[in-house]
Amino acid sequence: MVEHPLWERAAVGSNPIVPIRVLVMKRVPFIVKENFLNEDELSLVVKESTDLFQYLIDGKKTNPATLDGKILKQNMGIHYHDYYDNAHTSSDTVKIFNRKVFEDALYNEFEVEVLRDLCYNMDWSGMMLSYYKNGDHYKPHYDGSFITGLYWFDIKPRKFTGGELYLYNGTQRDNPQHLVPFQPKNNRFIAFPSCYMHEVKPVVISDELANQGHGRFCISVFCGHKST
Ligand SMILES: [Fe+2]
Repeated sequence: MVEHPLWERAAVGSNPIVPIRVLVMKRVPFIVKENFLNEDELSLVVKESTDLFQYLIDGKKTNPATLDGKILKQNMGIHYHDYYDNAHTSSDTVKIFNRKVFEDALYNEFEVEVLRDLCYNMDWSGMMLSYYKNGDHYKPHYDGSFITGLYWFDIKPRKFTGGELYLYNGTQRDNPQHLVPFQPKNNRFIAFPSCYMHEVKPVVISDELANQGHGRFCISVFCGHKST
């Protein structure tokens, strides 16, 4: 719940301006797409992710969000642009998501007009593959990009529980308490403004099954503007 001061002019005695305060619940804009990739696209993503699985590194070394100097996530991951010299031409996954997000103008589907206008000028994307084993999580944080896209998929039949995404209705300064929970369904994509707080709840899975690739996979698509 966020308080927004509204000032209303009213002729009351000798004081012509009377401040009133109302409580306004912020709404978080988001897009959800089920069955986001077709069969051919999904098999390319699964194949590439299977190949990259052995190269995942400690998520603490993948430019994680922090709070008061403490790293907020525990998982494994790899940035496509770190692995490839030119991910835009070498990675099938990056090519697929760039096409789906930019060429198909996916973010035109945001209901908020100003968000659609801002997305129109986005010209940068960075992508990361993440994997969550037992107990892995990402505490409430925000991302440095403009729009965050998250895509969940399974390489093998999933054997984990938990790992829900909580999307909060505000930025860090709002200290938001209300959230929208999302299940990390296979082949589901969600996008939202990166400045809104979000969280990944702990994953539950045995170590043996997690090591076999039955845990929680997520591809993050960060979009924004070039800094140059
Ligand atoms: Fe994030």
